[in-house]
Amino acid sequence: MIIAVDGPTASGKGTIAKGLAAHYGLPHLDTGLLYRAVGRQCQLNGGDPDNPGDALAACAFADDLLADPALRSEETGGLASRVSIHPEVRRVLFDRQRAFATQPGGAVLDGRDIGTVIAPEAQAKLFITASVAARAGRRFLEMRSRGLPVTLDAIEADLALRDERDRTRAAAPLVAASDAMVLNNSELSPEASIAAAIRLIERRR
Ligand code: C5P
Repeated sequence: MIIAVDGPTASGKGTIAKGLAAHYGLPHLDTGLLYRAVGRQCQLNGGDPDNPGDALAACAFADDLLADPALRSEETGGLASRVSIHPEVRRVLFDRQRAFATQPGGAVLDGRDIGTVIAPEAQAKLFITASVAARAGRRFLEMRSRGLPVTLDAIEADLALRDERDRTRAAAPLVAASDAMVLNNSELSPEASIAAAIRLIERRR
C-alpha cells in the first residue's frame, strides 16, 4: 500500500506520516527534506536559489547532508521553497521519490505533491490542513523549546509567504488530489490526528 500525505508547512503531516508508517509497518520518506537539502547545498555553494542553474547544480548533494540539523531551520525551509519552484529540480528529485514509493511492500511519503505527481496511484491519499494560527502556534512552541529566538508574528508571516509560494507555483503546486481525504487537525493533538488519519484510511479500504 502506498500512502500519500500532503499538506502545507507545519500542518502536522510529518507527524501523521510517521505515525501511519509505524502503524502499518511501512518505510517513510519526508520528501521536504530532499528540497531542504537542495536549498542548503545551494547556500553552501554560494549559489542563488532563484536561479534554475544554481538550484539544479545543488541537487548533487551528498547523502550525509540529509542528517544535518541545519536542514530543519526556518531559513532552510525558505530556501527549499525557493529551489522547489524550478521544474528541473523537481525532475531530478522525482526519480528518487518514485523509487521509494514503488518499493515492494509499499511506503508512506509526505510532501506537497505526493498524491498528485509522485504517486497518483496511491491507495490512500490524505491532505492535512490546519488554520494558520494553529500551525504558527505549534511552530512557535517547537522553536522556543529548541531555544531559538522567534516571535509568533514572524512565524505567521513566514508561513503565509511559503503557503502562497507553494500554492501558486506553476510546477506541481500544493493542491489536494481530487481523490484525497481532507483532515483538518487545528483542534487535534498529534495522537488524535494520527488516530483520525487511520480511521479515514480504514473507512476507504
Ligand atoms: O515540508 P517542508 O517544510 O520540509 O518542505 C520545505 C519546502 O519544500 C516546502 O515549502 C515546499 O516548497 C518544498 N516541497 C515541495 N514538494 C514536496 C516537499 C516539499 O515542493 N514534495
